[in-house]
Amino acid sequence: MEASRRDFINVAIGGLGVVGAVGVLYPIVKTLAPSAASTTEAKAEIDITKIPELGMRVTSWKGKPLFVLRLPKDLQEDKYNVKKDSVNSAGKLNYELLKGQEAFALVGVCTHLGCIPLWKPEGSEDVKAPYLHCPCHGGLYTPWGDNIGGPPPRPLFVPPQKREGDKLIVGEPGFVEQLV
Ligand code: FES
Repeated sequence: MEASRRDFINVAIGGLGVVGAVGVLYPIVKTLAPSAASTTEAKAEIDITKIPELGMRVTSWKGKPLFVLRLPKDLQEDKYNVKKDSVNSAGKLNYELLKGQEAFALVGVCTHLGCIPLWKPEGSEDVKAPYLHCPCHGGLYTPWGDNIGGPPPRPLFVPPQKREGDKLIVGEPGFVEQLV
């Protein structure tokens, strides 16, 4: 009788150990695994004919806000005071990657501390052309996401993207390859 009681206690302790291990490991594995958003939204397709000129559509890509902008052809970088030494991971201004594209996508996460910038298509007293403004600490970006004022240290991230007819496909290399 004593032996079977000891067996029961051993089994119970072993069971608790397994439950404890699962309880500890599950959050770790869950953290390391790709999130549902990052796997299900690895590609985004946007019909650019639905975006008016100077309009911005906000959607998401890999769980992050994605800005899709459509610009007039005559809007040029020389309207802005671009810092030529503030470049993306390809060693270029975003403008160099995106010029000539009537529509393109940027990840809408400020490179200072991660706030979501606002689109100002009318410009303002200080910036007399369309721009992006980060409300948290006053960061300023051109419509192509090059940082032109305030604390942001570098341009907004440009995801890989290509055009197929009226569609902009984000998440596949084309006129922008994969940047890091
Ligand atoms: S988070 Fe955008 S300027 Fe600070």
